[in-house]
Amino acid sequence: MTPSPSDPSRRLAGQVRRYSHGSRVPDWDRAADLQKAPAVIPDLATTRVSDELREAIEQYMSRYPDRRSAALPALMLAQKVHGWCSPLAIEQVAAVMRLTPGYLSSVATFYDMFETEPKGEHTVYVCTNISCALRGGDAIYEAMVEAAGDDPRMNVRTFECLGACDIAPMASVNGEYVGPLDEADCRQIVDELTSGRPVLEHKRLRDRPSAIDLPMGDGLPTAGRDISNRITASGNDVAGPKDM
Ligand code: FES
Repeated sequence: MTPSPSDPSRRLAGQVRRYSHGSRVPDWDRAADLQKAPAVIPDLATTRVSDELREAIEQYMSRYPDRRSAALPALMLAQKVHGWCSPLAIEQVAAVMRLTPGYLSSVATFYDMFETEPKGEHTVYVCTNISCALRGGDAIYEAMVEAAGDDPRMNVRTFECLGACDIAPMASVNGEYVGPLDEADCRQIVDELTSGRPVLEHKRLRDRPSAIDLPMGDGLPTAGRDISNRITASGNDVAGPKDM
């Protein structure tokens, strides 16, 4: 049916950019289904969540007057447990936080550090923002991609400033900040990751003299730290993700 001139989808059509193949974002003009039943909050009584994960999320929630403020650390913890923000991970967080999965999905899809599809278990975020770019971050990224090859265990991405410009060019390797990097380090990073050894120990940010005297709080409450410590470098809990 041809939309009338007053139809909002027609008025907006000229403002939504076309992709090179000529189409717009699929279904961009499809109206919300107002008849659809609202998303329900999963029942914690029937949603399988480990006590460790639940306690850690509850500790996060207790820190804020509005429990939704705990969404980011709670999702991050669930991602560590499951390897990505899978539907099950989101359902578990939603059950504990008494939020809809839709709300948490909107958070997870907005922030870059959440994986909403299964990815390689080893995350290497190469910073290509200004400080790192000026010191060769793009070449480090290319060398990292080449070193990772088509190994499905490797999840290599560029990233915006990771807040460690003093060690530019740098990367976050499974959450460990390392730098300043040179291209030769990339091969070593892959070798150490795939053999289960610590990565670039001599270039870890946390071991730099300026960092050693500082309290290295990781921002996790006690339960969160406990559960994080039980999670292997691969992102899977040692007890098995299915138990979580
Ligand atoms: S620009 Fe790379 S850490 Fe800031």
